[in-house]
Amino acid sequence: MTPPMGWNSWNFFGHNVTDKDVRDSADQIVSSGMKDAGYTYVNIDDTWEGERDASGVLHSNARFPDMKVLADYVHSKGLKIGIYSSPGPKTCAKFEGSFGHEEQDAQLYASWGIDFLKYDLCGFRQAVMNVQAPNDPAEQMRLMQAAYIKMGKALRATGRPIVYSFCEYGWDAVWEWAPAAGANLWRTGGDIGPTWQSIALIGFRQAGLEQYAGPGHWNDPDMLEVGNGKLTLAENRTHFSLWAMLAAPLLAGNDLPNMKPEIRDILTNRDVIAVDQDSLGRQGSRAYSEGQVEVWTRPLAGGAMAVAVFNELDKGRYSSHPFHLSLSKLGLHGTQEGKDLWTGKNVQLTEGQAIELDGHDVLMVRIARPIVKASQR
Ligand code: GLA
Repeated sequence: MTPPMGWNSWNFFGHNVTDKDVRDSADQIVSSGMKDAGYTYVNIDDTWEGERDASGVLHSNARFPDMKVLADYVHSKGLKIGIYSSPGPKTCAKFEGSFGHEEQDAQLYASWGIDFLKYDLCGFRQAVMNVQAPNDPAEQMRLMQAAYIKMGKALRATGRPIVYSFCEYGWDAVWEWAPAAGANLWRTGGDIGPTWQSIALIGFRQAGLEQYAGPGHWNDPDMLEVGNGKLTLAENRTHFSLWAMLAAPLLAGNDLPNMKPEIRDILTNRDVIAVDQDSLGRQGSRAYSEGQVEVWTRPLAGGAMAVAVFNELDKGRYSSHPFHLSLSKLGLHGTQEGKDLWTGKNVQLTEGQAIELDGHDVLMVRIARPIVKASQR
């Protein structure tokens, strides 16, 4: 019911992923402490697919000799395994999709022991939407919706619980219809990249979607880039904090066998993960923004609250002109006792609190017993 946590092959391995990479990643999820921190799904993205045989049964390609054996291996580690397909005849990387074979593929996944399916629109657009309704965008969207509903039914018919992940880039306000169509998570936009620009653009643009998320059905701003590209530690922290505020799925996408300790420490920060996984299941929202600074809050179970102060610019807010936090704009009254989730220290937040923040950095605080405005009591 909480946002899925795990790892996906795409953001680091892309088209080159192999059976060995998936096994190595599963091993590392266990040995790095990520499994203990809650990471469960080991997801193979696009490019595992081979050809269909005469009876339409899909086979994996030479880089994945035996999917059942691989799934058994991942399960033997106490983890779950995910796979990828498209409603179109071809996937985004032009491999075999599920078009016309939905039930057959769902049964195949279940027979392998698959626990998670990412279903990526791609080839369905050219082959079906553009062909069947060339000049009718609304009808194209109906066709798209029907394709997602169809696979959802096929998955349910297998009798195996399989997490269903929509990847259609947020089209047709997917958050409005995805839960009823069987989605557990749905991408809200285009592909993320390992750059600050991409992460900040996608992350902060989630504001306003909070009403659509809840236990078992989540907005997905896309998989994590923590540890990828040339992101600074502040940027990695901010990325992880923002995704936790957003109750986003936490699917790591980095090179686990070569993960640096400081990246592992970010991905396994228990306090930040606890915010993401909070049982109340309410996605955080933007409380206010002031130029370069964004202040977000997230209500947590038991009346607690998470507050995150983000600095969007690469220039810091130093003691010359620190940011002054308005507690009253957060509905809070007077001094608040909290915990800084990145230093682990107890902190007090007072009205107008001066906050110094480096460029692209974050202050994330959990307030166990927020004191709300007198009028709200
Ligand atoms: C699309 C998706 C990505 C990834 C690739 C694979 O671009 O949005 O997340 O799955 O396809 O080809």
